[in-house]
Amino acid sequence: MHVAERVVLAYSGGLDTSVAVRWLIDNKGVEVIALAADVGQGASDSPGTLEERALAAGAIEAIVVDCKAEYAADFVAPALKANALYEGRYPLVSSLSRPVIVKHLVAAAREFGADAVAHGCTGKGNDQVRFEVSTRALAPDLEVLAPVREWGMTREDSLDYAIRHGIPIRASRTSLYSIDENLWGRAIECGILEDPWEQPPEDVFAMTVPTATEPTEMVVTFDRGLPVAVDGVSMPLHELIPAVGAVVGSYGWGRIDMVENRRVGIKSREVYEAPGALALIQAHQDLEGLTLERDLAHEKLRLEPRWAELVYDGMWFSPLKQAIDAFVDESQAYVSGEVRLRCAPGRCDVVGRRSPVSLYDHGLATYDASDTFNHDDAAGFVRLWGLGVQTWASRQVRSGPGSPGDSPGGG
Ligand code: ARG
Repeated sequence: MHVAERVVLAYSGGLDTSVAVRWLIDNKGVEVIALAADVGQGASDSPGTLEERALAAGAIEAIVVDCKAEYAADFVAPALKANALYEGRYPLVSSLSRPVIVKHLVAAAREFGADAVAHGCTGKGNDQVRFEVSTRALAPDLEVLAPVREWGMTREDSLDYAIRHGIPIRASRTSLYSIDENLWGRAIECGILEDPWEQPPEDVFAMTVPTATEPTEMVVTFDRGLPVAVDGVSMPLHELIPAVGAVVGSYGWGRIDMVENRRVGIKSREVYEAPGALALIQAHQDLEGLTLERDLAHEKLRLEPRWAELVYDGMWFSPLKQAIDAFVDESQAYVSGEVRLRCAPGRCDVVGRRSPVSLYDHGLATYDASDTFNHDDAAGFVRLWGLGVQTWASRQVRSGPGSPGDSPGGG
């Protein structure tokens, strides 16, 4: 059997992946290249110190890749066009970032001649699935190592291990919660949240801390399915999402508290905050209401949950997901226009929408004098629409129970 010699590890800078660097060297006899992907997690420390920590843990090379623009354009954008919400609620925050991280792991493996990649996921979660399936899709020849799944250490054991091996750790970040964050939102797990009855303490939230008191309005401009400007100011997607999120989040809006079905068969209590994602999905859905033809809109609604499920399940690089992407892209040709969002404490609502390619026809919809709708057409249409039911009902009345002759009160 082939034994890996050089590994590119997906490095977060946290305790587990820092310990993983040393553990891989000592237990697998490999050289470790640590790769940290900046997907907009707004790390509390500079990339410099993150690189230093990886090297101090024993990595031969430490790389930080700024993936924000790519992540937004190639991974978040398709999710927004698909209004992707797993189980109707979760905007796939972590699910979307894994494939872009894998892309860079594989690229680094090629560049540095590595024969394996590694991740710091446990065996109980979805992220291992996403890392491994994505790697198999992009680089079937690479081995995947999962030190955290293999080593069976508790958090205390890992801390111990770090101290024994002189691995630097961020004391402030060894928090009670497991947090995964990127520019699309933030996932919070563990600690008291593992009791689904317990209300999340306010201090778990960072993107939705309520500070704003006065209502405000925001106009989001969409071009073919994607937001391109806020209040007339054009921004690239990776800047627009946090900009919208900052406003909406300051009203304490954008939280999700749910019990979710993981791919590995575990029900898990999840707390998320994704103010930008939820506001933009809501605005996008609304603009589709104005601009998508009815049958297309309905078919798209059927495919959206499937897309979300595939991506949640680690199938980013898969033929079905790609085919649905093609459908969704095609559907977005006329999803252009503006959406008015109104924020107030605890709320964010769509209060208006308009589009140069709107399918809303005032003459057809109005009840006032400017009516252009042909009412005579309606009478015949409705008669034919109901003809089958009418025929069926007339037979029921003659022979079934409840027919006029049967009723106690007489007919
Ligand atoms: N349950 C979410 C998901 O599967 C969030 C996972 C968060 N990941 C983490 N390593 N804390 O997408």
